[in-house]
Amino acid sequence: VGSGRCVVAVDGPSGSGKSTVSRRLAGVLGAQYLDTGAMYRAVTWAVLVSGADPHDAEAVAKVAGEIDLEIGTEPDAPYTHVDGTPVDRAIRGPEVTGAVSAVAAVPWVRQLLVAQQRKIIAATGRIVVEGRDIGTVVAPDADLKVYLTASAATRAQRRSTENATDLTATAADLDRRDRLDSTRTADPLQQATDAVVLDTTELGIEEVVARLRSLLDRSFGGV
Ligand code: DC
Repeated sequence: VGSGRCVVAVDGPSGSGKSTVSRRLAGVLGAQYLDTGAMYRAVTWAVLVSGADPHDAEAVAKVAGEIDLEIGTEPDAPYTHVDGTPVDRAIRGPEVTGAVSAVAAVPWVRQLLVAQQRKIIAATGRIVVEGRDIGTVVAPDADLKVYLTASAATRAQRRSTENATDLTATAADLDRRDRLDSTRTADPLQQATDAVVLDTTELGIEEVVARLRSLLDRSFGGV
């Protein structure tokens, strides 16, 4: 795929394999990797630490506007800092996971983060970006748009193994979060009309990455 500008948008619900596939693909392309979910999680962490109510849109917007959010885009060493503090571990905890959908539904938060994401994409030029609204809102001109799916059972199974959590509770939580993320008014999870849809229920990571590589090779005409 050469070494020039190349923006890949990867969207899909939780547990669809987005993060693993995106990091791997960025690695093989020699590209950067942007985890936009980590940004919504970082704002949520800051909201919880400040004592604000994640359902109070005004309070959430205020916190989002005040923090300094820094995100590292090396695929083998991504990091997230809030006001200089590493929050990588904390943003994966159950408190943040439980509140992030409410925070991500606040339009002003989305405006702020989308603007920051576009800046990062423009500055790097060669990057795999994963999220919910990348192909539709953040980078509608991406060179390749991918929408990953997997059966609800598989997605719950993956998350519960990953986080060592109870399968039934994880399935219920995923279902609740996906419903909130897909039905909110501001930039809901949506499949771009020009996205390549891949179901990862039966496909291994390497196979998905290989398919995406060959799609990119084809669209770049092997340059
Ligand atoms: O991908 P993830 O589970 O880390 O994302 C965390 C939450 O952030 C998820 O519930 C939806 C939201 N999100 C979003 O609204 N838009 C994005 N581009 C990425 C994530």
